[in-house]
Amino acid sequence: GRPLGVAVLGMGTVGTEVVRVLREHTEDLRSRVGAPLVLRGVAVRDLSKDRGLPAELLTTDAEALVARDDVDLVVEVMGGIDPARGLIGAALTAGKSVVTANKALLADYTGELAAAAERSRADLYFEAAVAGAIPVVRPLIQSLSGDRVNKVVGIVNGTTNFILSAMDETGAAYDDVLAEATDLGYAEADPTADVEGYDAAAKAAILASLAFHTRVTAADVYREGISKITAEDLETASAVGCTVKLLAICERVPSGPGEPSSAEGGKDRVSVRVYPALIPRKHPLASVNGAFNAVVVEADNAGRLMFYGQGAGGAPTASAVLGDLVMAARNKFYGGRAPGESVYAELPIAPIGDTPTRYHV
Ligand code: NDP
Ligand code: HSE
Repeated sequence: GRPLGVAVLGMGTVGTEVVRVLREHTEDLRSRVGAPLVLRGVAVRDLSKDRGLPAELLTTDAEALVARDDVDLVVEVMGGIDPARGLIGAALTAGKSVVTANKALLADYTGELAAAAERSRADLYFEAAVAGAIPVVRPLIQSLSGDRVNKVVGIVNGTTNFILSAMDETGAAYDDVLAEATDLGYAEADPTADVEGYDAAAKAAILASLAFHTRVTAADVYREGISKITAEDLETASAVGCTVKLLAICERVPSGPGEPSSAEGGKDRVSVRVYPALIPRKHPLASVNGAFNAVVVEADNAGRLMFYGQGAGGAPTASAVLGDLVMAARNKFYGGRAPGESVYAELPIAPIGDTPTRYHV
């Protein structure tokens, strides 16, 4: 088949692994797509860094790379809101499918970007944006679309889980473990996003939007981070048979205190919150350690599902990016288009004061 051109925007922790797989597994990818995937270029900020790539593949002009006629698919792994937002918008408007890992952007702009994708019948895929390698976005969009999801609870930030696990297991100091998480490529460019819960809140907004088919943005999420958690807190938790995990909790709640739930004929709101929680050691989420993540989904008919795996790091995240890229490329090649996210409910957000019950395990 006709080769499909790929532009990669960003070659840091994730982009380096995406480019490696594209270059090392060309035959596998060709046979899965039906046509060769050809890397047309990689956009970076600094051309002087040695990246082991031919110089002609590297550019600082991401806009021109996206606009090239021989680019069919764009992978955005540069992070941040601008210029990523404009670049993704331009690609989608030009009918190019986009794969992104950028949860900070998606938490606030999925509506705008999904509309651009819809208008030009392009794909916008973002499996890597939530929980690294773990397939959880596609199960919510596709596999569970015939069910009614009531709750999504998970550990969705690898950096904070790495820190809390090390503090719990070895009594390591917070600052030392944060530095290690950064060295390992788990942390965001500004790790405040991790430790203050902004990254988990962005992921919670994405999960809640998908699970409840409504629009939740980062500003709708109640948020507390882990920067005030001390070694003493973990010791106290341990003394009562618990550990501490940063949880993202998305759930349907009744329209007001004492009101019936929608299952009882009432109306729902959604409550979305991120905070460090005490978890009994026997609970499955308590044994999720290091940069691993886990997401528990509760649905009317499926019951309880649990998704578990590596939630951060270059190669695990690249796995999710490449999976999306193969799907988007297959759609380009065969002329199909998989369903994207769908918003058909407009559920109000319940303020934190209306959801006093902490997470029940
Ligand atoms: P890095 O900071 O390691 O890499 C960012 C890359 O983008 C760098 O190569 C940088 O160029 C390039 N870049 C940044 N701004 C521009 C710009 N304006 N123009 C051109 N190139 C630019 O980030 P990560 O790889 O860790 O993360 C990338 C994205 O993936 C983020 O959205 C992040 O939230 C998300 N993500 C990260 C995960 C992880 O474990 N790291 C997991 C899941 C998602 P240069 O090299 O020249 O500085
Ligand atoms: N900084 C993020 C984390 C990367 O630690 O989970 C994965 O999204």
